[in-house]
Amino acid sequence: MNLDFSQIVPYIPFMLEGIWVTLKFVSVCIIAGFILGTLLALCKITNNPFFKWFANAYTSIFRGTPLILQLMIIYFAVPQLTGYDISPFLSAVLAFGLNSAAYVSEIIRAGILAVDKGQTEAAQALGVPYKLMMRNIILPQALKNILPALMNEFITLTKESAIVSVIGYLDLMRRAQIVGADTFHNFEPLLFAGVIYWVMVYVLTSAGKVVERRMRLSD
Ligand code: ARG
Repeated sequence: MNLDFSQIVPYIPFMLEGIWVTLKFVSVCIIAGFILGTLLALCKITNNPFFKWFANAYTSIFRGTPLILQLMIIYFAVPQLTGYDISPFLSAVLAFGLNSAAYVSEIIRAGILAVDKGQTEAAQALGVPYKLMMRNIILPQALKNILPALMNEFITLTKESAIVSVIGYLDLMRRAQIVGADTFHNFEPLLFAGVIYWVMVYVLTSAGKVVERRMRLSD
């Protein structure tokens, strides 16, 4: 056994920079995935057959193929068609945002369906317009119930972000690999990266619990 953590000390700033790279694109993906996912969920519950078909086909494709494949198509294959290179950041945001939207749309759809039907009926009886009813009555109640499931999705996204290393994006994971190759010591940088991912997920989970507690205050 030749563990030697002093070997990676000079690389620590390089690896810590990876935290920001990872956090930057993951936070954009979470927001993009959530907005797009909400729109898709609304499409799924409308009576419009085209919107319904589109949202279901979308989910089927993005959930039915590996995320790594979607990422590689966007980064390597799309430039072949368009003639324009696409940056690793944009590719990552597109792949993860579009992929997450498929999962989020199902979570939100389930949340909306779980809200008591009487809420919709009461709103309609009072003449509340559909948009207002969704925004002020149904979605807030749905959100409270699906918060744990949404947190799961955000955690998955944070950890899955490590696969952007395959397109050479200098995120935390890629940096750990580089340090391993430089020092011929793989265990130490990978362990370091593992601890950082764990801390990131821990912070995210704790933040989620705080939000959940706040939302339950009104119960
Ligand atoms: N490894 C899975 C895949 O390739 C992860 C999908 C991402 N999951 C998610 N909840 N966004 O399909």
